[in-house]
Amino acid sequence: MTELFQEVWRMLKLGIIGTHWITDQLLDAAVQNGHWQLTSVYSRDRQRAQDYGQPHGATAFYDNLDDFFMNGDFDVVYVASPNALHYQQVRQAIENDKHVIVEKPAFTNPDEFSQIEALLQAHPAVRLVEAARHIHTPLFKQVQAQLGQMATIQGATLTFMKYSSRYDQVLAGEQSNVFSLDFAGGALQDLGVYPVYAAAALFGEPNSVVYFPTMIETGADGKGVAILTYDDFEVTLNFGKIANSHLPSEVYGLKDTLVMDNIADMTTATYYDAEQTAHALTAEVAENSMRPEIDAFTALFEASNDLNQLKNYETWFKLSRLVNSLLYTLRQSAGIKFPNE
Ligand SMILES: NC(=O)c1ccc[n+]([C@@H]2O[C@H](COP(=O)([O-])OP(=O)(O)OC[C@H]3O[C@@H](n4cnc5c(N)ncnc54)[C@H](OP(=O)(O)O)[C@@H]3O)[C@@H](O)[C@H]2O)c1
Repeated sequence: MTELFQEVWRMLKLGIIGTHWITDQLLDAAVQNGHWQLTSVYSRDRQRAQDYGQPHGATAFYDNLDDFFMNGDFDVVYVASPNALHYQQVRQAIENDKHVIVEKPAFTNPDEFSQIEALLQAHPAVRLVEAARHIHTPLFKQVQAQLGQMATIQGATLTFMKYSSRYDQVLAGEQSNVFSLDFAGGALQDLGVYPVYAAAALFGEPNSVVYFPTMIETGADGKGVAILTYDDFEVTLNFGKIANSHLPSEVYGLKDTLVMDNIADMTTATYYDAEQTAHALTAEVAENSMRPEIDAFTALFEASNDLNQLKNYETWFKLSRLVNSLLYTLRQSAGIKFPNE
């Protein structure tokens, strides 16, 4: 028998935590990718796990996390729970030798990140990736390449601000996880992650950072401005969930400028050269914005010891660690503390 026939094709088996719309989107991307099979669903409510998972083909439903991790038949878990729960759930996943896709922001402070890193060293076959969907898109990669061609960088402004319908709940005096310090919420931890990730991916580690938040009734930040200081320039981040912004994002060269319509959901990017001639950067924009990251993660999980995949993994992991540290330092600079801190 030839090697080709000996190779057995096997779908990646997926378990999920979280039954909200972001999981719908992830599952849609996984179906489009074609290498995935949803097998197991965890919810605090077993009936909800079944109602959610059955139409997607899942066959096992849990309302107990220990049971889910010990008996669930899956290779990879997607963790899409409120931020404050990620650390404990990811710990359990790694202890049970499951690969992990954790929603952003992965963890709430560098201590948690270090502990997860140590645990990964004890489980060397496990791969952990953070779902920072925007940095995996072909257009973002074009932007990175264009930036590398710019002789001088004099700064950038990156904006992502969208009014959240959940702020209506807050204004009505109701609870909302995303605006709750108990669940490690707030603007920086939510939409703020996108510009922070983009800045880290485009410019690397800044020398210092500071955050000026607009606080809301819940004690969390509703919007804010962060300034990242590098050797020769500043990067200003403008983000939030209690107002709408229609500003694009820009990187300033000397006479040239790079303009992106939206740092999190980029559909156009234009390079204006020194003569102000516009050059559109071209790349396919997926209808489902999670598709590029799912394709990238699939390649990693299917060949997790391949040298090229390991190189990607190392790059993503370092970026994830840097973003974790930046979010924490920004938050500390504004005096925003979560209950466990
Ligand atoms: N990448 C993206 O574009 C994107 C977009 C949106 C959100 N996110 C990230 O995805 C994660 C989830 O966000 P979300 O807005 O979906 O959160 P959410 O609606 O507050 O909660 C997500 C899921 O967690 C469970 N849950 C809710 N409240 C809980 C509680 N008090 N205790 C335990 N479990 C609870 C629920 O599942 P059960 O009821 O079934 O247990 C729910 O479906 C966050 O980390 C967020 O930053 C990413």
